[in-house]
This record gives sequence, C-alpha cells and structure tokens, in this order.
Amino acid sequence: MLFQKMGLCWRALGLLCTVSLALCFNLEPLMHHAFPYPYQDQQGREAYFGFSVALQHSEEGGGANWVLVGAPRANSSLSGKQDIPEPGAVFSCSLAGDTCEELHVDANSDRKVVKDHGWLGGSLDTQPDFQSNRQATCVCAPLCKFRYRKKIYMNGACYIAKDSLSSATFVEELPLENRGKQRSSKAIPGTDRGETIYIYGYGQAGFSTHFPDDPTKLVVGAPGVYHWNGSAILFQDVMDVPDPGARKRREVPIEDEEDVPDPGARKRREVPIEDESVPDPGARKDGRCH
Ligand SMILES: *[C@@H]1O[C@H](CO)[C@@H](O)[C@H](O)[C@H]1NC(C)=O
Ligand SMILES: *[C@@H]1O[C@H](CO)[C@@H](O)[C@H](O)[C@H]1NC(C)=O
Repeated sequence: MLFQKMGLCWRALGLLCTVSLALCFNLEPLMHHAFPYPYQDQQGREAYFGFSVALQHSEEGGGANWVLVGAPRANSSLSGKQDIPEPGAVFSCSLAGDTCEELHVDANSDRKVVKDHGWLGGSLDTQPDFQSNRQATCVCAPLCKFRYRKKIYMNGACYIAKDSLSSATFVEELPLENRGKQRSSKAIPGTDRGETIYIYGYGQAGFSTHFPDDPTKLVVGAPGVYHWNGSAILFQDVMDVPDPGARKRREVPIEDEEDVPDPGARKRREVPIEDESVPDPGARKDGRCH
C-alpha cells in the first residue's frame, strides 16, 4: 500500500519534471549559427564584434528577423565616417542568411559630438514588447565626447529608433549635455585648495541600456556621473502632453537604485555636493520629440 502510494508519487513527480522540462529554455548548441566580423579583411586591431547583441523583428515584407551586433572598436565603412578613428559600429545580421550590414545609427553630423573612439555599439537593446513594428531600438556610444566652448567632456550618446521598420531613423540623445553641470570644485578641508568634482563631465551615458516591459520607458546607465559614483537615466516617452503632435521624451537622472523599479514616482535625492554652482538636481531637461 505504501509502495503503491509512493509509485503514484513518483509518477506525479515524473510528470512534473516532464512539464518543467517542456517549459525550460533548452538551447541546442549544435544548431548555432555564427556570424563572422564583416570587416575582417580590412581589420587592424580587434574590433570586439559581438560586444553587445539584441534580436529584432519586423512584420514588413512578410516578416523578418535579424540580430543587431555591436563592434565598439570598429572602423566604420559608411560614407562620412571613414576618417573617424574607431568610432565603433553596429551591424544588422539577417537570421535568414550570412549577411551583415552596417547601420547608420549616428547619421547626424553635429560637429560638437566627437565620435572617435566613442564605442558606438558598446551597449544596445531592443524593446521586448513587440507590437506591429513598434519595436524601439537604443544603441549607445558611452565614450562619445561632447565639445563645449573650451573643453571636451565624455558625456556619452545614445541613438534611438522608435520602430523596427526599414525606414526607421535614429535620433541622437545626449542626456548629459549641459554646460553648467560638467564640473564643479570642492574645497579640501583644512587647506586653501580645491578639488575638481566631475558631475556629468565623465558621465559616460550608455555604458548599459535596457528597455523594460513598459513600452514608454528606457533606462540608460551612466557610471561616471557624480564623480564616478554613477547614475541611471530614465527616459520616459510622454504621450499625454497637451499638444498631441509634440510627444516629448523626458530624462530623469536617478541617483538611487530604489528609484528604478518605480520611476513613475520620479523621486530624487539631493546631490551631496557642497557647492552652490551645482544646479538644482530637481530641474528636468526635456529631450527631443518622438
Ligand atoms: C582602424 O584604423 C586604424 C588606422 O588605419 C588602424 O590603426 C586600426 O587598427 C583600425 N582598427 C580596427 C578595429 O580595425
Ligand atoms: C560620491 O559618493 C560619496 C560617498 O557616498 C559621497 O561622499 C560623495 O559626495 C559623492 N560624490 C558626488 C560627486 O556625488
């Protein structure tokens, strides 16, 4: 009787295992497909092809799937970019074939944006919530610099496309571009000297990037903000602004990890810097329209 019961128990357990196996994410390693670095023949030093990856889908033309691959040290082959030393590149590789094509994500040629060694493709992500081609993509160049009047600071740049259609164009976002917030100085206690504090100066926005399930949000890591204490920047696609034609993307620097799960609250702590020249951290910067 006891064994009968145990047998039943084992069978139930076996069934449970089978069900959980069926629900598992079982990858078949032998069926993999490897994409070689497309610019191998003209390569100098290593380009780090594959440093970042993301899958993308479009329903256009009967449906297509591809993988976006970042090569943050690559030399670009695109016109207008061939003279820039190692700006980094992002490739779109078709899952139906072997072909990879370099994407022109940073087509804007703002001369204030210094792209050499900028690590374009150092991070990238696509929206998980795919709905009739509205799969946004974010590609970042965390070591991209911005030229201010006299100085150049490593603010980082991200490029965002709002859908996965072939006509999609990327819009440049420079969340840390702010002349007054690059650096500050702090008195060294007990001396008459001061110390430079880099607020946004080496912020490196785009070191990491993530689209959460909420289709109106995007989070970008900026480990160099507040003198390398680091920060995360939340982009919020504001759809309910009074003028329906002007959908603005707001940027909210987050100082505390706890603020990330509930960005709707947009709570921010004071910046712990004893310097009056630090602008009000509550002041939000409005981004471009999308
Ligand atoms: C990029 O081009 C420069 C100059 O030709 C070369 O020295 C460097 O190794 C190249 N880098 C890559 C990743 O191919
Ligand atoms: C960085 O963090 C330290 C330790 O919490 C703090 O003392 C310092 O003021 C912070 N620096 C900046 C620039 O926020």
